[in-house]
Amino acid sequence: MSELFPIPQTLAARAHVDQPTYRRRYAESLRTTEDFWEEEAAFIDWIRPFREVSDTSFDPADLRIRWFADGTLNASVNCIDRHLPAKADRPAILWEGDRPGESRTVTWAELADQVNRLANVLRGLGVAKGDVVTIYMPVIPEAIVAMMACVRIGAVHSVVFSGFSAEALADRIRDAGARVVITADEGLRGGRVVPLKRNADRAVAAAGGVDHVIVAARTGARVPLTPGRDIRWGAALALADPWCPPAEVGADDPLFVLYTSGSTGRPKGLVHATGGYLVQVGTSWRTIFDWHEGDVFWCTADIGWVTAHSYKIYGPLLNGATSVLFEGIPTFPDHARWWSVIEKHRVAIFYTAPTAIRSLMREGEAPVLRHDLSSLRVLGSVGEPINPDAWRWLHRVVGGGRCPIVDTYWQTETGSVLLVPIPGAVPNKPGAAGKPYFGICPVVMDSAGRPVAGAGRGSLCFAGSWPAQARTILNDHDRFIRTYFAPFPDHYFTGDGVERDRDGYYRITGRIDDVLNVSGHRLGTVELESTLASHPAVAEAAVVGIPHEIKGQAIFAFVTLKSGHPESGTLRAALVALMRERIGPIATPEAILWAPALPKNRAGKILRRVLARIAAGNYDDLGDTTTLADPEAVDEIVRRHRASL
Ligand code: PRX
Repeated sequence: MSELFPIPQTLAARAHVDQPTYRRRYAESLRTTEDFWEEEAAFIDWIRPFREVSDTSFDPADLRIRWFADGTLNASVNCIDRHLPAKADRPAILWEGDRPGESRTVTWAELADQVNRLANVLRGLGVAKGDVVTIYMPVIPEAIVAMMACVRIGAVHSVVFSGFSAEALADRIRDAGARVVITADEGLRGGRVVPLKRNADRAVAAAGGVDHVIVAARTGARVPLTPGRDIRWGAALALADPWCPPAEVGADDPLFVLYTSGSTGRPKGLVHATGGYLVQVGTSWRTIFDWHEGDVFWCTADIGWVTAHSYKIYGPLLNGATSVLFEGIPTFPDHARWWSVIEKHRVAIFYTAPTAIRSLMREGEAPVLRHDLSSLRVLGSVGEPINPDAWRWLHRVVGGGRCPIVDTYWQTETGSVLLVPIPGAVPNKPGAAGKPYFGICPVVMDSAGRPVAGAGRGSLCFAGSWPAQARTILNDHDRFIRTYFAPFPDHYFTGDGVERDRDGYYRITGRIDDVLNVSGHRLGTVELESTLASHPAVAEAAVVGIPHEIKGQAIFAFVTLKSGHPESGTLRAALVALMRERIGPIATPEAILWAPALPKNRAGKILRRVLARIAAGNYDDLGDTTTLADPEAVDEIVRRHRASL
């Protein structure tokens, strides 16, 4: 058994959930799941209370995921209005700009004012209930205002990561059929300017169908505005009415769309429903981070990811919590930036990603120790397995040995955390994503599709639905069923491998489908390969993940050129540029190896498994190569890989 870190007594003494409570409530929540969620649903202010808690089935032939379906509510009322009587002048958002010294505090009243005004602007532009609005913004308070303004009128937000390229944005605008896009003049990250409006203009031109672009001022740069189409945020809000009546929305009506990468084809737009998502995200946020009134919360994720949607925006807002919103990166202007923000705002709960911890670890302890981090009580990790070395550093150096680390396992699809060591209830094991959340029933499946009893390894599935689960893939319900419910009938399949130990802890062993996890960001191999193959010189490409000290995994590409196209450094640079342009900087390959031919089986399927081992330098352990159609191709690739080192 690996080392166990006991629950700090001071924390357990006042935790929302302690060890005996977790055991009892977890067992109860599986026995009477509907009763459990019915109680949790009291957290939400409903307009019309629901009568039926759930109607769910994971049978691929009869998939149903309905929660609180006949209830109605409004998300922005739950996130903002209901806190106004007690907290109007208290801070909702503590914004820290990219450059130190640039900061803003947004009170609940100011947030409400901006949201109402923007909601009226959107209504004035003809945005109606159910319409999708695409948001392509830096991490500034206006991004949260934009999301809340959408949901105030029952519109559906689709936030696209501002690090994505114009082309990636265009795909997402087109797929969602957005008629309004909200962006900013420019973004700032690590001292560098990101030309958001320029990207948005290109994306809008490529996607078509967009009637209006609302442009918030971040840097104040002069950006071209298209008359009749583009609207300045400041001017429009100044003229708008400061009260917008909230729309009454059905619990199973969509709240937002969020795109993520899958193992095949285009990114998929996961659709989240309003009622179930708000119930589970709001209640789990408070439990998982053991938040108490007055605690300042900080999640470092960019608004473009699900982590930010659920646990940086909706979770804290639903609970009336003050949170830090940080625009920059951990290493600008120096390696102590995060620690100075924690000290400045007396952050109590800090939620971040292993890749950032690994990069900060390299700088040693001095930048951390220069700051007073005594306000910290709970730390969180998300996005990929946290390796025990990074875990111990985070625990000892950042947390001073006194803060439990909640290693939260979940996905864009799950909406909410499913596996987690609840801080007052489950002792930490470095590298393990803890135990199931209430109402969640993990199942480890063996290769024959049989549940593993007790300790063992296999595919991570879940039996039974939970309220925050995504309802479908936008415009592709069949893909939703095929991807998540067909592999193991009556179960939700995550795409992850897992190991359950004798104490009931779960350790994620990584994706078992063709999805890479680069710095906690999901990238589908097919998406990467088809981008490379779109270059006129490329005949074929295969992409695999290689272990990377900081990023967890990095992209390694094997590329076969068409005859007549010589291998060259210029071409290599062009392919790197193409990946950055089409997808974004996160898709930059670590290495590209020219391969005269790719190893395939006799059915013509590329053997990525063999390529992954070559890329990692494991030439002597290529696994089963008997199915190879052309063994010489492998010998040649190995020779070239060796020579490239
Ligand atoms: O492979 C798992 C990994 O990230 C995937 C989900 O990615 P995404 O939808 O982008 O959401 C990330 C943030 C919730 C999972 O299938 N993953 C996420 N959290 C963990 C993790 N792997 C191990 N431990 C975690 N705590």
